[in-house]
Amino acid sequence: MSQPTPSANQKLNKWVQECAAKCKPDKVYWCDGSKAEYDRLMQEMLATGMAVPLPKRPNSFHFRSDPSDVARVEDRTFISYPQQIEAGPTNNWMAPDQLKKTMNELYDGCMQGRTMYVIPFSMGPVGSPLAKIGIEITDSPYVVCNMHIMTRVGTRVLKVLGSDGEFIPCLHSIGAPLKPGQKDVSWPCAPIEKKYISHFPDENLIWSYGSGYGGNALLGKKCLALRIASAMARREGWMAEHMLILRLTSPEGRQYHVTGAFPSACGKTNLAMLLPTVKGWKVETVGDDIAWMKIGPDGRLYAINPESGFFGVAPGTSYKSNPMAMDSIKENAIFTNCAVTDDGDVWWEGMDGEPPAHAIDWKGRDWTPASKEVAAHANARFTAHASQCPIISSDWEKPEGVPIDIFIFGGRRASVVPLVTEAYNWDHGVFMGSTAASETTAANIGAVGNLRRDPFAMLPFCGYNMGDYFAHWFKMGDTLGGKAPKIFYVNWFRKSPEGKFLWPGFGENSRVLKWMCERVDGKVGAVDTPIGRLPRKEDFDLEGLHIAPTVMEELFKVDTAAWKAELPDIEKHFAKFGDRLPARLANQLQEIKKRLG
Ligand code: GTP
Ligand code: SPV
Ligand code: MN
Repeated sequence: MSQPTPSANQKLNKWVQECAAKCKPDKVYWCDGSKAEYDRLMQEMLATGMAVPLPKRPNSFHFRSDPSDVARVEDRTFISYPQQIEAGPTNNWMAPDQLKKTMNELYDGCMQGRTMYVIPFSMGPVGSPLAKIGIEITDSPYVVCNMHIMTRVGTRVLKVLGSDGEFIPCLHSIGAPLKPGQKDVSWPCAPIEKKYISHFPDENLIWSYGSGYGGNALLGKKCLALRIASAMARREGWMAEHMLILRLTSPEGRQYHVTGAFPSACGKTNLAMLLPTVKGWKVETVGDDIAWMKIGPDGRLYAINPESGFFGVAPGTSYKSNPMAMDSIKENAIFTNCAVTDDGDVWWEGMDGEPPAHAIDWKGRDWTPASKEVAAHANARFTAHASQCPIISSDWEKPEGVPIDIFIFGGRRASVVPLVTEAYNWDHGVFMGSTAASETTAANIGAVGNLRRDPFAMLPFCGYNMGDYFAHWFKMGDTLGGKAPKIFYVNWFRKSPEGKFLWPGFGENSRVLKWMCERVDGKVGAVDTPIGRLPRKEDFDLEGLHIAPTVMEELFKVDTAAWKAELPDIEKHFAKFGDRLPARLANQLQEIKKRLG
């Protein structure tokens, strides 16, 4: 039993038929994107027990994933070009023929006993010149509901696609066919060694198999909007970056637009929604994870948020740390891998107030504060529509985007890296981005807390050779010339020897943003150091913040010996790219070596 196709696009219809023939679902369903559709699917998932109702939060639901399926799987993520060199030294590679053969065997009959959903979606406002259309085929109703929030889904997208429009095919299966009479589990998925998150950038094609979680399964996000889009952006002369977008307004009413690239679980959502503690300054959210940027008619760089929702880290989110996120998830939200309290609410470590006396943890077991394990998984997430954020910018869906003044790079560093550093110039800024390093987090399956180079926070998301990606940054800078954003590097995560964060972070990060804006306007000075420009004490607004001068000294310290000790690792990192490393980066390395003496 399947619907007739609502699409006039023959290429699309043919692809859907081919996928159906291969995956052999019980039926094919085309998503219209309506609220009724969302509600119906949610009711079906409640009936099977996959979704847990949350009476405390209107129209909100909780899901518990399989314990093996809790985050992106970088080891199982592939960038497939005929030549390995095009994927570069930082991506897993397999030749397209071989990868497709392996995956076709897995896809054969993989949707038996299930419905195949066809999701037409737009990344970017429907019809915007910067937007791209994707079609995700999936056998997960959880994915459909999340896509409803994270992207613009439905028949209106098919209208824009028309009979001959271009789309990016995204095939997804959880990889868990049901035999006749077989009872389903609450989170079906395939074992880790059968998971594949595959990208064929030459064909603008995405194939994902075996996982139902986050970026592995919501294919508009990392797969399309970063991995495929970064490759498209390079070909077409724009940028697809793992960046938040915010608008900052000064007390005088001057607007600044800022984008920031921090690795997964390193503070993008929090910065995007910050409530400034510096007097008179205001922040509005444009995006919290991804920025697509194109040079406008005036020669400046304009950014849009291709997504329409937040897939945010739950643990640590509270009214104290991120009140605007808390307000965004009061209703109509999906929660995954949190704890559920006895009165029907979600809970996670770091939420306001006392922990509940009893809850059901993310694995479905009884939990009390005496339990040895955490109640919510460290990568537990909420999904909520961007329009629910009280400080969402009125321009967040402006088709042409917002003009960017400032780029921020950063990461999680317990030591060495100061609170804020300004790049001397574009080349130095690209050097900062390309050498960015961060302690790993639970957003990827693997060890947490290991320091790794994560250039531009794009290590897991760059759809082509990262040496060429660095070159693309130089090319964009050359085109932008004097209109290029100013570049800064931040570290909110420096720790004391006792392991406590030295900087209070969150809303207080507005002090750092204010200094950046004043640097853009040339209103304040800076101190030149071997690693870049740091704030002069007298220019950095600390009014109303109680912080010991010795702590500020530590936060602004440039430890020359520690920086020199980083150089061999940077050399090793650069050496990986061989002749694809732009000479301008090698020059920057020589320059910093000289400055460090
Ligand atoms: P992805 O969605 O994975 O890309 O993560 P993200 O970069 O959006 O990170 P997010 O803002 O969700 O923050 C991740 C974790 O870092 C949360 O637990 C936050 O509470 C914590 N965090 C964010 N900003 C700060 C900060 O300024 N200081 C400290 N100490 N922690 C922060
Ligand atoms: C990230 O890991 O950077 C995320 C979460 O934003 S996921 O959508 O799972 O990639
Ligand atoms: Mn992210």
